[in-house]
Amino acid sequence: MKQKEILLFGATGQIGRNLIRKLTKNNYKVIAVTRNIHTAGYILKTQANPGYLDLVEINNFKYDVIDDLVKKCSICINLVGILYESKKNHFEAIHRDLPDMLSKISHKHKIEKFIHISALGNEKAIDSKYAVSKLEGETKAINNFKNSIILKPSIVYSIDDNFTTNFMTLLSRLPVMPLYYQGKTKFAPIHVNDLVNIIFRIINSKNKLSVIECIGPEVLTFKKIIITLLESMNKRRLLLPLPLPIAKFSAKILQLLPKPLLTEDQLRLLKYDNIKTGMHKTNQDLNLNADRIFKVEIDKYSYNWRSGGQFAKKVNLKND
Ligand SMILES: NC(=O)c1ccc[n+]([C@@H]2O[C@H](COP(=O)([O-])OP(=O)(O)OC[C@H]3O[C@@H](n4cnc5c(N)ncnc54)[C@H](OP(=O)(O)O)[C@@H]3O)[C@@H](O)[C@H]2O)c1
Repeated sequence: MKQKEILLFGATGQIGRNLIRKLTKNNYKVIAVTRNIHTAGYILKTQANPGYLDLVEINNFKYDVIDDLVKKCSICINLVGILYESKKNHFEAIHRDLPDMLSKISHKHKIEKFIHISALGNEKAIDSKYAVSKLEGETKAINNFKNSIILKPSIVYSIDDNFTTNFMTLLSRLPVMPLYYQGKTKFAPIHVNDLVNIIFRIINSKNKLSVIECIGPEVLTFKKIIITLLESMNKRRLLLPLPLPIAKFSAKILQLLPKPLLTEDQLRLLKYDNIKTGMHKTNQDLNLNADRIFKVEIDKYSYNWRSGGQFAKKVNLKND
C-alpha cells in the first residue's frame, strides 16, 4: 500500500508536535510546515525517525507555494491558530483566509481529506473576533471542499500547553487569582493525547461527517480548573471574583503586554461555555473516546510548580 503523505500546517504547536510523533511512529510520512526552521527545527526533528519527517519553511502563505505542497500529499491538516492579534497577525488572515485557501487547493488536487482544527462553541460568541473568524474559516472549508473535516476541541491541555502551564506559573507567583464571570464558565478539557488519537482515527476512517466537537470526559468550571491546579501544586490562593468593569479595565491593560495575559476579545469569549453545543456530533457520539481525567493528568506534571518539586510531600490544602 502506498504510504500516505501528510502535510501539516502549525506543526510546532502543542497539538502538532504530539501529532507528528503519533503519525511517524505509525509509518506515515509527514511534511511539517513552519515559519522558522531555525527556531522550530530542533523541536520537530526529534519527533520522528529519520526519513519520516520533512520540514518546510514558509513565512507567508503564497498560493503557488502551498499549491505545490498540497498536490504532493494525501491529507492536509491545518493546526495554525493565534490567541490574540498583533500588528502583523490578524484573526481573519489566520483563521479564515488560510483554511479558505487550503480547502480550495485541496479540492483542486482532489486529495483524500482536509482536516481543519477550529474551536468549540464559536457559534454563539458573536462578539468575539477570534470566534467569528474561526467560524468563518469552518464555513469556507466546508463550502470549498466536500472532504473537509472540522474538529472543534474544547481546551486542549498537557505538559506542552499554554493553558495549565501558564496558569500554574501565574498561581505560583500571585497571591490572588482573579475569577472572571465568577469562574462559572464551563469547559470540557481534552488531553492532547486523546485529541491526537481522535485525529489519527479520523485520518484512517471513512467518516462522512464534516463537523465533530471534541470534548474530554468531564465538564469543569473555570473555578474548578483553578482549584484543581492549586491543589495539585500544594498551594492555597485567594480566588477573587472580579466585577465586570474591573475585569474589562484589567484586560485593556494586560493586552498591552508583548505576550498578552488577557485581551478584551478573550474576556468576551470567556463568558461563553466551552462545552458540547448539541449542534454537532461529538467524539463521544462516534465512539472516539477521550477518557483522560483532568486531575489525574495534572498530577503527573504539576510538581514542576510545587515547592520542593517532585518528591515534596502532598498535603491536603483546600481552596474555595
Ligand atoms: N490548545 C487549545 O486549547 C485549543 C483549543 C481549541 C482550538 N485550538 C486550535 O487548534 C489549533 C492548534 O492548537 P495548538 O494548541 O497546537 O496551537 P499552538 O501551540 O499555539 O500552535 C499554533 C501553531 O500555529 C503556527 N502559527 C502561529 N502563528 C502563526 C502565524 N501568524 N502564521 C503562521 N503560522 C502561525 C505556529 O507554527 P510555526 O511557529 O511553526 O509556524 C504554531 O505552531 C489552533 O488552530 C488552535 O486555535 C486549540
